[in-house]
Amino acid sequence: MEQHHFEHKHILSLDDFSAADIEYIIQTAASLKEISSRSIKKVPTLRGKTIINLFFEPSTRTRLSFEIAAKRMSADTFNISMSTSSAVKGESLVDTARNLQAMQPDAIIIRHAQSGAPYLLSRHVSASILNAGDGTHEHPSQALLDMMTVLDKKGRIAGLKIAIIGDIAHSRVAHSDIIGFSKMGAEVHVSGPATMMPEGLSELGAVGHLNIREAVRDADVVMTLRIQRERLQEPLLPTAREYADFFGINNEIIKLARPDAIIMHPGPINRGVELSPDLADGKRSVILDQVSNGVAVRMALLYLLLGGGD
Ligand code: CP
Repeated sequence: MEQHHFEHKHILSLDDFSAADIEYIIQTAASLKEISSRSIKKVPTLRGKTIINLFFEPSTRTRLSFEIAAKRMSADTFNISMSTSSAVKGESLVDTARNLQAMQPDAIIIRHAQSGAPYLLSRHVSASILNAGDGTHEHPSQALLDMMTVLDKKGRIAGLKIAIIGDIAHSRVAHSDIIGFSKMGAEVHVSGPATMMPEGLSELGAVGHLNIREAVRDADVVMTLRIQRERLQEPLLPTAREYADFFGINNEIIKLARPDAIIMHPGPINRGVELSPDLADGKRSVILDQVSNGVAVRMALLYLLLGGGD
């Protein structure tokens, strides 16, 4: 692996990382991935480190894979959820942060409905902060695992056409993926209902299409997204059936992509809405590879931030 000076304390946004940083994180993840296939899946690298998972929104993949990643490197991990924290009694995020800091954790992994919550936390604690998804803003570790999966399957990212389909405006995954894939030299095309397309796509590095066919045509990667109902102030779609008819990825629309195109989804999937079940489970789908790579990428992030290299 090439030497690279990784000088980051937090993982807040992919905007803070260069293409060389991203490559280095993925290379580190690739070298740590093998630990997960051993019969004894544990190395002493982060022994004595304390990691808190602070999840104010539901999560299956991100929370569990950060916890597995930390445990595979022998860190001590502790989980707090919204319902089991004193946030339900009215404690502010800043007060929560100060109290967590008093227990001297080395890293806090936070998921929060408010965009910017990880930044706020980073100003009040000395621990490393890892953004596990903040509102509609970013989900950097998801984009890193997505890029690792594309690199595994395609051997490169530069020059590929990545189509991201769905609720682009409210998706923190789409936001981080657009930043990451375009930094790595891919052409990112997005499509979704007009009510779910954000302003300023070209500044972010993506090309927007109202016609899904233009986005999917000749794509190397087709990434489908869930509608973020929990972030909508009002229904922006008539029905799920109508969404599936116009923006669902199915056997007909996928014919427009390259014959070797792969299908991705960050999960959780609404089968039959944004993605047909046969494609989700078919041979082009790399959805479960994304989940496996999620453990490796999160091991790499904790390793790089917490001085595993010392
Ligand atoms: N991809 C993702 O963030 O999934 P979870 O919400 O289950 O963590």
